[in-house]
Amino acid sequence: MFSTPPGVLVAVALMVAMATTPSHQAYAARAFFVFGDSLVDSGNNNYLATTARADSPPYGVDYPTHRPTGRFSNGLNLPDVISENIGSEPTLPYLSPELTGQKLLIGANFASAGIGILNDTGIQFLNIIRIFRQYELFKEYQQRVSALIGPAQAQRLVNEALVLMTLGGNDFVNNYFLTPPLTFRSRQFSVPEFSRLLITEYRKILSRLYELGARRVLVTGTGPLGCVPSALAQRSNNGECIEEFQQAAAIFNPLLVQMTQELNQEFGSDVFVTANAFQMNMDFINSPQKFGFVTSKVACCGQGAYNGLGVCNPLSNLCPDRKIYAFWDAFHPTERAVRLIAQQIMTGSSQYMNPMNLSSIMAMDSRT
Ligand SMILES: *[C@@H]1O[C@H](CO)[C@@H](O)[C@H](O)[C@H]1NC(C)=O
Ligand SMILES: *[C@@H]1O[C@H](CO)[C@@H](O)[C@H](O)[C@H]1NC(C)=O
Repeated sequence: MFSTPPGVLVAVALMVAMATTPSHQAYAARAFFVFGDSLVDSGNNNYLATTARADSPPYGVDYPTHRPTGRFSNGLNLPDVISENIGSEPTLPYLSPELTGQKLLIGANFASAGIGILNDTGIQFLNIIRIFRQYELFKEYQQRVSALIGPAQAQRLVNEALVLMTLGGNDFVNNYFLTPPLTFRSRQFSVPEFSRLLITEYRKILSRLYELGARRVLVTGTGPLGCVPSALAQRSNNGECIEEFQQAAAIFNPLLVQMTQELNQEFGSDVFVTANAFQMNMDFINSPQKFGFVTSKVACCGQGAYNGLGVCNPLSNLCPDRKIYAFWDAFHPTERAVRLIAQQIMTGSSQYMNPMNLSSIMAMDSRT
C-alpha cells in the first residue's frame, strides 16, 4: 500500500548526495545569523513560556500570510529585509521545527524578545533566551551543520556568514529605567556608569561571538529610547522626546562604536561594523512628512496616549494604513520604517555606518 515510486527514491538519493557532498553550490548566498532582542526576533518566543510575544493579531497583518509570526512588526522585520537585500531567503527562528536539512544552510535566527546585554534584564518576561543561551544554541546549530556538510565546510559557512547583533535597548527600557524597578541598577549606578558596565559586558559578548566563528558582524546601537510612543505616553506632557532617555542613548552609542573599533584592532580586521540606529530613526522622527509618514509619535497599534500604553492585541486601536506610521507598536517600527533603516545599513555614509556600509562589505567579501 505504501510502496515508494522509484522516482522518489532517486530524488531522495540526490538530496542525500547534495547534502553530503561538500559542494559550495549547496548554498548560493552567504549564510545569515541573527542574535538579539525583539527588534530582530522572528518567532523564537512563540515556543517559550514568556509574556514577551507577538503571536496574536494584528501582529503580522501585512506579512505575506497576513498572520502573526512572532515578529514584532506589522510585516517584515529588520532581518527579513536584510536577507532580501543580500539575496537570501529569510532565516527561520532556531526553535522552529521547520529548520531542518538544507534549510539550515540559509542560517538561523537565535534572537529572543525581552533580552538584554545583562542577564538580569528582562526578568519580568520569565522564560526568554538570554544571549549566552543563544550562543549555546549557535554551537548546537554548528554541530548539526557539521553533520550535514562536514566540519570544514560548516566552519567555512560560519566564517563567511553575515551576522546581525541587536542588543542594549532593553537594558535601559526594561531594566535601568523601569518603574517600579525590578533590579537595583538605577540605585547602584548613574547613567554613564551603567553605560560603561553595559559596554564591558557587551565586549565579552562580542569577543565570544568571534570565538564562535563570526567574522562579519553588524552591531546596531540603541534607537531613540526617549522618542518611542511608550516613552511619550508614560513621561511626555507635550509630545517632546524624553531627554533623560535620549541622553542615555547618546552616552551608550559612542562607547559602543569605540569598543567595536578596539575589538577590530585586537582582531586585526573589520569584524564588527556598527549601525547608527539612533540617527537612522531620528531622521524620520524629526521629519516624518519628508519620509511619507503622517506621524512619528503615535503607534499604529495600541491604546492610550500616543497609542503607547500596554501591548498591541486584538482589542487595540489599529491604524488603517501602516505605510504612513513610523511606529507599529509602543516600541517597534513598522515595516516601512524598517525598510528605511535597512536602506541606510546597505548604502549609508560614514555618519550611519562605521567603518563601512553593507554594500561595501558585500563587494569586499565577494572579492576575497
Ligand atoms: C551571564 O550568564 C552567563 C551564563 O549563564 C555567564 O557566563 C555570565 O558570566 C553571566 N554574566 C554576568 C555579568 O553575570
Ligand atoms: C557605502 O560605503 C562606501 C565605502 O565607505 C562609500 O564609498 C559609499 O559612498 C557608501 N555608499 C553611499 C551611498 O554613501
